[in-house]
Amino acid sequence: MAEPIDVVITGAAGQIAYSLLYQIAAGTVFGPQQPVNLRLLDIPPMMKVLDGVVMELEDLALPLLREVLPTAEPAKAFNNVAAAFLVGAMPRKEGMERKDLLAANVEIFKVQGEALDKYARKDVKVLVVGNPANTNALICSHYAPSIPKENFTAMTRLDQNRAQAALATRLNVQVDQVKNVIIWGNHSSTQYPDAAHATVTLSSGVKAVSSEINDDEWLNNIFVTMIQKRGAAVIAARKMSSAMSAAKAAGDHMRDWWFGTKPGEWVSMGVVSDGSYGIPKDIVFSFPVTIKDKRYEIVQNLPINDSAKSKLDITSKELEEERTEANNVLKK
Ligand code: NAD
Ligand code: LMR
Repeated sequence: MAEPIDVVITGAAGQIAYSLLYQIAAGTVFGPQQPVNLRLLDIPPMMKVLDGVVMELEDLALPLLREVLPTAEPAKAFNNVAAAFLVGAMPRKEGMERKDLLAANVEIFKVQGEALDKYARKDVKVLVVGNPANTNALICSHYAPSIPKENFTAMTRLDQNRAQAALATRLNVQVDQVKNVIIWGNHSSTQYPDAAHATVTLSSGVKAVSSEINDDEWLNNIFVTMIQKRGAAVIAARKMSSAMSAAKAAGDHMRDWWFGTKPGEWVSMGVVSDGSYGIPKDIVFSFPVTIKDKRYEIVQNLPINDSAKSKLDITSKELEEERTEANNVLKK
């Protein structure tokens, strides 16, 4: 069996971590042959709660789970980590936009970027979940200059999973029969969930989702708005932000990064823009990617019509504004 890898989860006493830790410890993320040491980072007032989480992890009696370290010290939490799930941050409440969290959360990602830079492995794979996830990932990468920018990603997989599930419901098929729906841009209400390239596997063969649904009003408006506002709908119902589905999406994102995407399939991830599709560089923008040998590549040359282009412009503009605001917060 392989040597254990060190994996950090921040916000380890919180809602998302509570569902995520089991997946990692059980082998659904890094595979059934990969033992893990867990580093659980939270803030000092949460250490008692974290003790309870550690007890539960012990009581899972899982053979892949080796050392578990609860801590409030970034230097210990990030030491030698091969993978980092940056979850710890304030969640939004009803009526807020995710970018309203910038002032509260951006400082956390500066500190954690510095800690990654000093203590983590240089090939660490960083997934930022804490909101506003794209801009937090950008800031984190900025403060970790010794780690390649490609190693910092933001989570839009929850939006992808939501979109895939919504299309499957509309088509009355199982969710895994729908493929290649794309989330472009920010994990915010400006994101562009794009079904134009998605396919569905039917008994008659692989078909375009758009021609099977054949309802432009639904695809271009109702579906788009539903996915853009799904996080807010969950908050309105639960009075807390999504956690079980967010944890599942975080596991999906990291597992695909670790093991690669299936032939002919792509997934959406917030990555530092290289200018593809005319998106400005130096923002973390969600693109469709394929992954091989732990390296992702942005899917190129997808046709983008004028309506889609204007949606990409709106979400990239918001990310540029968030970047400016984050820099202003950090300068204060
Ligand atoms: P939560 O409040 O239940 O847990 C957050 C935890 O982070 C708390 O235990 C808190 O003490 C801890 N924390 C705060 N500051 C910290 C720091 N500096 N270092 C380490 N830990 C720290 O929240 P949650 O429901 O787990 O959500 C966490 C974040 O994830 C929120 O920002 C939420 O908006 C975001 N989120 C993102 C997505 C996405 O799709 N990208 C989906 C769901 C939630
Ligand atoms: C989500 O999409 O559910 C999370 O980002 C939480 C939120 O604030 O919507």
